[in-house]
Amino acid sequence: MEIHLIWTQDRQGAIGQEGARPSDLPEDTLRFTELTEHSPIIMGKKTWDYLNKRALSSQQTVVITRQLAPEGNGRVTFVHTMDEALAVLQAVEPEHCFIIGGAYTFKTAMPYATRLLVTCVDTQLPHPDAFAPSISPLHWNQVSESPWLTGKNGVKFFYKEFARVTDV
Ligand SMILES: NC(=O)c1ccc[n+]([C@@H]2O[C@H](COP(=O)([O-])OP(=O)(O)OC[C@H]3O[C@@H](n4cnc5c(N)ncnc54)[C@H](OP(=O)(O)O)[C@@H]3O)[C@@H](O)[C@H]2O)c1
Repeated sequence: MEIHLIWTQDRQGAIGQEGARPSDLPEDTLRFTELTEHSPIIMGKKTWDYLNKRALSSQQTVVITRQLAPEGNGRVTFVHTMDEALAVLQAVEPEHCFIIGGAYTFKTAMPYATRLLVTCVDTQLPHPDAFAPSISPLHWNQVSESPWLTGKNGVKFFYKEFARVTDV
């Protein structure tokens, strides 16, 4: 199973501030939806709460929490570790899954990730509390980068993507 991490970061690499994202960029939201809406998703408990406990995908959603987890329903499962989250999805053998945040979840997911899909926006959160994981060139190759684009709201942004360096 390919494991894709997807996030949007500001000029400083910040991804959030009390649940607010770096920008409400319609183009980025649409791209996120198109990429993820029919794929299994893993997220951390805080992001789940910030999303008002709403599953974004038509496929399985796995929420990680160390706390006593609420009962899931058919499409939403609560687990205690990243390994458990991945095991839940491995059981249904999808080609890939998306891990959608937040910062703590990305950090613990990095050793498992096979691809990183990053949107860089030319904005700056004033008091960020969540940052993107660092991307070491020892482990990651940048495989694409779009030119700078301008959103309908005037915000400038670009996309970049990284693939894990594989041993030959
Ligand atoms: N810009 C973006 O693309 C983007 C995307 C998503 C979120 N965000 C932002 O990120 C921020 C939230 O990030 P965050 O780091 O505070 O929270 P988070 O990663 O959403 O959730 C963290 C919580 O999830 C559980 N968890 C996650 N991974 C775990 C693991 N491997 N093992 C055990 N428990 C695990 C723990 O829950 P318990 O404490 O319940 O044990 C942990 O406290 C918000 O500001 C949000 O807006 C931004």
